[in-house]
Amino acid sequence: MPTPHISANPGDFAPTVLMPGDPLRARHLAHTFLDSPRQVNAVRHMLAYTGTHAGQPVSVMGSGMGIPSISIYAEELFTQFGVERIIRIGSCGAVSPDLQLRDLVIGMGASTDSAVNRARFGGHDFAALASPSLLENVMQTAREQNTPVHIGNLFSTDLFYHPKNETLLTMLQSMGILAIEMEAAGLYGCAAACGKQALTICTVSDLIRQGERLSAEEREQGFDAMIQLALQSLPPQAS
Ligand code: HPA
Repeated sequence: MPTPHISANPGDFAPTVLMPGDPLRARHLAHTFLDSPRQVNAVRHMLAYTGTHAGQPVSVMGSGMGIPSISIYAEELFTQFGVERIIRIGSCGAVSPDLQLRDLVIGMGASTDSAVNRARFGGHDFAALASPSLLENVMQTAREQNTPVHIGNLFSTDLFYHPKNETLLTMLQSMGILAIEMEAAGLYGCAAACGKQALTICTVSDLIRQGERLSAEEREQGFDAMIQLALQSLPPQAS
């Protein structure tokens, strides 16, 4: 049944959904990497497609930017459309000096300045973690592909334009955070609350301290690398 934000029918979504932030990226990925993609949502132009990859059904949908946006879509997908796992494929800003532009970062966990997981968890601090099986699969695929990846703690911020950016980055680095983005902690909290699986893979698009960033074209190539890693890491009969 359609929900307030998704006008699809039962069975329109595959058990596995890949989520870039940008709905136009979702359209590009669906038409480039899925066989027989068909559009299953356009409410608020948050485009979603379902097709197949290597014979198994896969959906791709935009999440929008920030924890509130991804939380709405993830909750409706998990609770109303039979979705079992969401793999966010996004971009991030480097916190660790070991990261270079285009590097891939896998969010084993996600810290945050958002209050959403405290709201879910009686005011306590929830350790927002990726699903162990998705993490294991993607690490194994990365090794097989000889694709270098960094794995560790992300920081999901509510403020892209943070007024105390330098101080924040120094503190994040001192706690071993690899990179900053805006959705993973919300997605992981939602997946835990719904008893489902989630993972985040990000391309480093910004070296924040140096003021360097990928061009739009380079970001696109980064997205293609991530989706290939994500698709190849899916077990043959993910259901
Ligand atoms: N901050 C937050 N989110 C981001 C960034 C950043 O610098 N780069 C890409 N996503």
